[in-house]
Amino acid sequence: KKLAVLLSGRGSNFVAIADNIARGRLSGCRINVVISDKMSAGGLDEARQRGIDTLVFPRKNYDTKQAWEGAMIAAIEDRSIDYIILAGFMRILGDAFVESFPQRILNIHPSLLPSFIGLDAQRQALEYGVRYSGCTVHFVTSDLDAGPIIVQKVVPVHSDDDEESLSRRILEQEHIAYSEAIDLIVNRGFIIQGRRVELQ
Ligand code: GRF
Repeated sequence: KKLAVLLSGRGSNFVAIADNIARGRLSGCRINVVISDKMSAGGLDEARQRGIDTLVFPRKNYDTKQAWEGAMIAAIEDRSIDYIILAGFMRILGDAFVESFPQRILNIHPSLLPSFIGLDAQRQALEYGVRYSGCTVHFVTSDLDAGPIIVQKVVPVHSDDDEESLSRRILEQEHIAYSEAIDLIVNRGFIIQGRRVELQ
């Protein structure tokens, strides 16, 4: 299967997936292209170093969100991409995009959904005082951080944690969780039934 990874930042989740594929720990798929809205995203350099195509679609180059999404949709359709992997893509994709690829967009979020959606999920978890947090890989629907859950990993929250230490602990699990989720979808026949994901 062909994957497109969308990212806006350093791209450590992308690197973890790419390395798992390169080392034969994630089979049945390859990353065809890395797409970013930010020219300066570190993840683009990581992609170039691995010989993976990159495309950049800065939002400001387009008059409307519709035109911006349309350009990305066309690029993804041109490449016959099977799954779209959001890995720190910091812009909300609208209905036009989400509905173009039903059940084919995955996202990772640094909390145990449905808790703490949106930005700064790790800070929200610390402020709330939860004893456990973690990460969630889920299908993307038009509601923010809300689609059917594929994989979750739990980490403890320590009493002396700050945002950085908790984020680091969660990120380690993100790097494991995303490849597991992709394997379930690509190689193990998981399908969506209602809000749950089941074996086909
Ligand atoms: C991760 O914490 C991810 O959960 C969130 O954005 C961050 C991206 O990190 N959606 P990276 O760019 O993959 O290192």
